Amino acid sequence: MQEFIGKFQERFGRAPEAAAQAPGRLEILGNHTDYNEGVVLSCAVEQTTKFAAVPVRGSVCRVVDFRDGSEMTFDLSRPDAPPARDGSRYIKGMALELMKRNVPVPAFDAAIESSVPLSAGMSSSAALETAAGLGMLKLAGSELDPAELARAGQGVENDYLGLKTGLLDQFSSIFGRKNALILSDFRSVCVRRTVPLPDAYVLVVINSMKKHNLVDSEYNVRRQDCEEAARIMCQLVPEARTLRDISWEQLNCARERMSERVFRRALHVVGECTRVIEGARLLDSGDVAGFGKLLFESHESSRVNFENSTPELDYLVELARSVPGCLGARLSGGGFGGITVHLAERGRAEEYARRVTAAYKLRTGIEAQSIICALGGGAELFNL
Ligand code: GLA
Repeated sequence: MQEFIGKFQERFGRAPEAAAQAPGRLEILGNHTDYNEGVVLSCAVEQTTKFAAVPVRGSVCRVVDFRDGSEMTFDLSRPDAPPARDGSRYIKGMALELMKRNVPVPAFDAAIESSVPLSAGMSSSAALETAAGLGMLKLAGSELDPAELARAGQGVENDYLGLKTGLLDQFSSIFGRKNALILSDFRSVCVRRTVPLPDAYVLVVINSMKKHNLVDSEYNVRRQDCEEAARIMCQLVPEARTLRDISWEQLNCARERMSERVFRRALHVVGECTRVIEGARLLDSGDVAGFGKLLFESHESSRVNFENSTPELDYLVELARSVPGCLGARLSGGGFGGITVHLAERGRAEEYARRVTAAYKLRTGIEAQSIICALGGGAELFNL
């Protein structure tokens, strides 16, 4: 952080009045459950996005990205201007969300820097929203409940950018705990508890480097399917509010009342919620192999029921079954391309990643990126 602050001073000739950082995240189990008020096992990673800023007069904000030296600007007095195509849209979106919450965000000069891989499925956008949100709160001299800060980030995606995502990404970036997974509940919107991952194992991310063009619209359509299933189920089960409240037996009894597609979408969500609870229990009891099997089951359900996998993701998960050193793997995040997470033996992880990426290259011609992830802590504001 000191080096980043030094660069800021050099660039703007002033010291920042706020500096914050927020990590990327990995979804470990619990796919598309968050907006169904379900449960998720996730973690923050050690890759972070940094944000520092000083207030300036007027309403125009300037943001310098230290990765490439580019400069972006936006005007806080023009909330209705279409979102920029560059990363500044997440920062302006967050400023608008905070202003909706009566935070008097001043105009500012800011700098960002990030080690979270872009569009890789590790929530680089949530990391930026969160770091910028914390920084802007400091500039404004305001405070916000951390769960509300996560909602503000979700608001950027939902209202400003039109992507109907849940709370998982911002939530994990804010509440991540070093060296642990977190079990989050998106009904009560809280971290229920941390779940240990034994030291002998690591999470390896392997990026398929391929993504559908229609990721955002596919995501929104899946959400609609889930809502339709919930509507039908809530008529049958009066105490239910969302798919989170539905058991596999209840869903199965109602099979004839919905289209086959909607049934399979609901089956995925109901199955994922069950696997999250079961997975946390298995890790508590040290049954890492059992947990790994659930990762494979989760992927299979994505492939067959939720149809948010791709041939590339399927191949990476298939390799996880045959290359030694891995206990389980699945797609992670929204899907339709992006990344897979692999639970690997720590001592064999590098060799494992090398072999999987080599086999992947042979079959697809694509150079996959792999990252051996350390579980990082949540977002923080720095004392300057
Ligand atoms: C994306 C969304 C999250 C969540 C996951 C799927 O990452 O941003 O809210 O829905 O997909 O679990």
